Amino acid sequence: MTRLYGAITGWGAYVPPHIVTNHDLEATLDTSDEWIVQRTGIRQRHIAGADETTSTMAIKASLAALAQANLPATELDLILVATSSPDYFTPPASSLVQAALTPHHIPAMTIVTGCTGFVYALVTAYQFIQAGVYRNILVVGVELLSRFLDWRDRSTCVLFGDAAGAVVVQATEQPCGLQGYDLGSDGANCQHIIMPAGGSARPFGPDVLDERSHYIRMNGREVFKFATRIFAPASERALRMAGKCIDDIDWVIPHQANLRIIQAAAKDMGVPLERFIVNIDRYANTSAASIPLALAENLANGRIKPTDTLLLLSFGAGLTWAAAVVQMQPQLHSAQSLSEKSRRVGEGNVFVYP
Ligand code: ACO
Repeated sequence: MTRLYGAITGWGAYVPPHIVTNHDLEATLDTSDEWIVQRTGIRQRHIAGADETTSTMAIKASLAALAQANLPATELDLILVATSSPDYFTPPASSLVQAALTPHHIPAMTIVTGCTGFVYALVTAYQFIQAGVYRNILVVGVELLSRFLDWRDRSTCVLFGDAAGAVVVQATEQPCGLQGYDLGSDGANCQHIIMPAGGSARPFGPDVLDERSHYIRMNGREVFKFATRIFAPASERALRMAGKCIDDIDWVIPHQANLRIIQAAAKDMGVPLERFIVNIDRYANTSAASIPLALAENLANGRIKPTDTLLLLSFGAGLTWAAAVVQMQPQLHSAQSLSEKSRRVGEGNVFVYP
């Protein structure tokens, strides 16, 4: 039987137009631009408008990715949406995205693994492709975490931003796409990133509102230690599965949670920081959207070449981690078509390709 691979044929991202700088936060919080920049590398974040929801952002990024893949949404076989900040607990955000994109009743699934959700979803998409079940899959990472943050808690609210990123994965016989991966979960330490109330363990009620325990709470120091511990071994396992070494990787795209975590990962892995994609200064931590946003932005501006081999590296609530080695595919994107697409970067706040 012919072996099938999954080519990433389209990518797109959306960030809401409204920017909140660290200086803006100084007006309402006991914080400073200096503290936030020094401890995290964040200078600003994009925050969704009142008329936006998680699914409306996801749809914009998806339309951009589908346009670049030149694939009508009606040709999709499966939609995977990674988010921890859905429009509703139920129905799933993935069904809202499906309804907006296609009248066909294709399967749609929401994947909830915190910041690692996009990489988990990408790995899931490849399983369906390699099994020969589906040919055209939309994978979205999207978060509107600003609605789930306690804006009185300076230890969390300064860290996050809203965004969406999407890719189209299509079956091909050309060897490319996912080469190796390493997924994991350390659920015994899940309390370090938690929304304590609002679920079945502690249903919503007036006491919850008083305590503000329906918002995200995080033990930053423990999460920081977990992240710096997990990146190097997870990368090694994903590279081993891919039959590659770190020198084969053109770009590492790490989850954008804290510049110091990225610097520590670079040191541990023996990779110069210059080979890491970093955009945390402009978008902050956009959780499940951070990797597809960085991917789309840097493919579109030409920094990542369509022939490059990438290492995607993420960690998040759960505590989960995800590493994936992805080979982009030269035969599907000529240099000329890429430069045409690159010119379109940054038109408004939707990256529209081509
Ligand atoms: N402004 C000013 N001071 C602050 C702020 C702020 N925004 N936030 C905390 N502080 C203070 C603290 O109160 C503390 O003061 P104290 O010493 O008087 O008690 C001091 O700064 C130091 O606090 P630490 O928590 O030790 O600061 P640290 O250097 O660890 O940085 C941070 C905190 C940025 C949260 C860091 O621990 C971190 O990035 N952790 C990882 C978080 C993460 O990556 N989360 C991603 C996963 S989220 C997901 O999956 C949804």
